[in-house]
Amino acid sequence: MTTVAVIGASRGIGLELARQYAADGCRVHATTRALDAPGALGAVGGDVHLHPLDVVDDGQIEALAGALSEEPIDILIHNAGINAGRGAGDPETTARSMRINAEAPIVTVAALLDSVVAGGDRKVAVMSSVQGSGRSRAGSPDLYGDSKRELNTRFRAIEPEWRARGITAVALHPGYVRTDMTGSHASLSPEESVRGIRNVLAGLTAKDSGRFLDYRGKDVAW
Ligand SMILES: NC(=O)c1ccc[n+]([C@@H]2O[C@H](COP(=O)([O-])OP(=O)(O)OC[C@H]3O[C@@H](n4cnc5c(N)ncnc54)[C@H](OP(=O)(O)O)[C@@H]3O)[C@@H](O)[C@H]2O)c1
Repeated sequence: MTTVAVIGASRGIGLELARQYAADGCRVHATTRALDAPGALGAVGGDVHLHPLDVVDDGQIEALAGALSEEPIDILIHNAGINAGRGAGDPETTARSMRINAEAPIVTVAALLDSVVAGGDRKVAVMSSVQGSGRSRAGSPDLYGDSKRELNTRFRAIEPEWRARGITAVALHPGYVRTDMTGSHASLSPEESVRGIRNVLAGLTAKDSGRFLDYRGKDVAW
């Protein structure tokens, strides 16, 4: 049986990841900031285990790592993210955007790495965005793009260490997906995006580690 951990599964792409992997018969560990009122995530059927996690809370990250310490994880997906928009932003918003989008994925994955090493597949994905690509809108103020670009930089710096432990790690762009983050004008449904992401992750081999891929498996420019 494949065990999948989805960090940030309450809504949007993360919720759909939990749904599809559970429907496929996987054991799913899914995190939410609202364990008492998990909403749609609480209604996902199958072998689904919910855990509380705000990714800026180091104590909760540690507690999650403890809860999963005896649980080998085949596929770990750090999906949680926010779009704090464009513009210069106030320092607090800028710091929060960087903390959630750029720091938390690296810190959370690092905390769960032993469980991934103990898993059979040893796959890690961090949800980035094409807006973090250096070629997109370079130079203009963009809190979201800047934070995803910073995530990409940090991911590329740490990925060789993860690879040395036998892990295949990639950064992902899910496509332009209809969620609370984007609204109804986006081109893809969460179902389509997640179907693609699952295919991409299923097809990864060790030599793919360190790539930045979209939901169709195409390389995205760093
Ligand atoms: N939609 C797109 O077109 C698109 C494109 C490129 C990249 N992405 C990336 O894909 C990921 C998912 O996006 P989405 O469109 O599904 O967004 P969404 O519908 O806004 O969902 C965001 C998810 O992240 C969680 N989250 C936010 N801050 C968190 C925190 N501090 N701790 C724990 N969880 C937190 C949210 O939990 P709460 O319910 O508790 O807020 C929610 O589950 C994000 O990383 C996003 O940047 C999306």
